[in-house]
Amino acid sequence: MTQWLIYGAYGYTGELIAREAVDRGKTPILAGRTESKVTALSDELGCEARAFDLSDEVVVEANLDDVDLVLNCAGPFAETYEPMVEAALSTGTDYLDITGEIGVFEAIAGYDGQATDADVTLLPGVGFDVVPTDCLAAHLAERLPEADSLAMGFRAEGGFSPGTMKTAVSGLGDGGMVRENGRITSVPAAHRTREIDFGTGPTTATTFPWGDVSTAYHTTGIGNIEFYLALPKSTIDRMRYQRYLAPVLGLGPVQSLLRTLVDRRVDGPDEQTRKETRAYIWGEASAGTETVVSRLETPNTYTLTVETALETVERTLDGAAPTGFQTPAGAFGPDLITDVEGVERTDE
Ligand SMILES: NC(=O)c1ccc[n+]([C@@H]2O[C@H](COP(=O)([O-])OP(=O)(O)OC[C@H]3O[C@@H](n4cnc5c(N)ncnc54)[C@H](OP(=O)(O)O)[C@@H]3O)[C@@H](O)[C@H]2O)c1
Repeated sequence: MTQWLIYGAYGYTGELIAREAVDRGKTPILAGRTESKVTALSDELGCEARAFDLSDEVVVEANLDDVDLVLNCAGPFAETYEPMVEAALSTGTDYLDITGEIGVFEAIAGYDGQATDADVTLLPGVGFDVVPTDCLAAHLAERLPEADSLAMGFRAEGGFSPGTMKTAVSGLGDGGMVRENGRITSVPAAHRTREIDFGTGPTTATTFPWGDVSTAYHTTGIGNIEFYLALPKSTIDRMRYQRYLAPVLGLGPVQSLLRTLVDRRVDGPDEQTRKETRAYIWGEASAGTETVVSRLETPNTYTLTVETALETVERTLDGAAPTGFQTPAGAFGPDLITDVEGVERTDE
């Protein structure tokens, strides 16, 4: 019997995925490090529960040994990917996650050879970050095969979950990142700002270290990549001032304080907000003076994460994903995203 496991199943996003999977008649094993939280959710949903933390590799391997696929929803992923990926390789378990962290994508790409040898698929980034943008990058590269630079970005409505905020907090000391001539390069926060039409009229957006700075290169081979986030001008100004605070914001005690604030104040968008809000994604590929632009309009970022995570889990369990390190569009092609209900793609 095919078995799959959701780790971090009772977090904001893990729980949305677990509930939808069960609604669709699936029976994932629900897992996480806090026994009371795992048991409460699995009792309610009628699923098997497994409580384990990631500190002991023998324990992690024992929990993955009889599992075909693990979907890791426990982030920040810089703190969870390594024991999970190592155990997945030892036990022949396919590994998927919903990270958006550039460092995590690059680290998992480093396991490509081992994963191919072990006949295992490593497919990080199966949420809003990076499925739609990775598919858009692949689509733009198909439209302009000689492209040597790529700019992408999005405007999202509806707010963020606690884990997304904590992951953003953990990156506060790092500044920005872009890809130049194939290399990931550090740049100051809010390095470049431009007016972008995400499909809803010109909007101010600034560079942001989104996962595609890593993944779009693996998918398309395009060596120059910038990613933009639509933000109010006042927020962009604050990001610029924070450049000077970056060394302080990365300190342990400041990080703990900020994470505690997130725990107290951030609940994540409720069901109605998720239903009523959308995301607008823009991408532009260029080769010299030639430029092509395409856009996606999608459901709310967390609703889309549930859809793309379940779709990629299903395709991987069906044997459709190649082994080794994969990006979503690298594994399933640019139309993976247009197969999701409520997504529209337009070409300019
Ligand atoms: N790709 C995307 O588009 C996308 C979409 C949504 C979320 N995310 C990312 O997914 C992550 C989770 O977000 P969320 O809002 O669901 O977070 P959340 O509500 O804070 O839940 C986090 C989950 O991860 C677990 N966890 C955290 N650190 C852990 C560790 N070191 N070892 C074991 N378990 C650990 C937590 O367990 P405890 O409660 O027991 O600590 C909890 O189950 C974040 O990194 C977020 O950025 C990405």
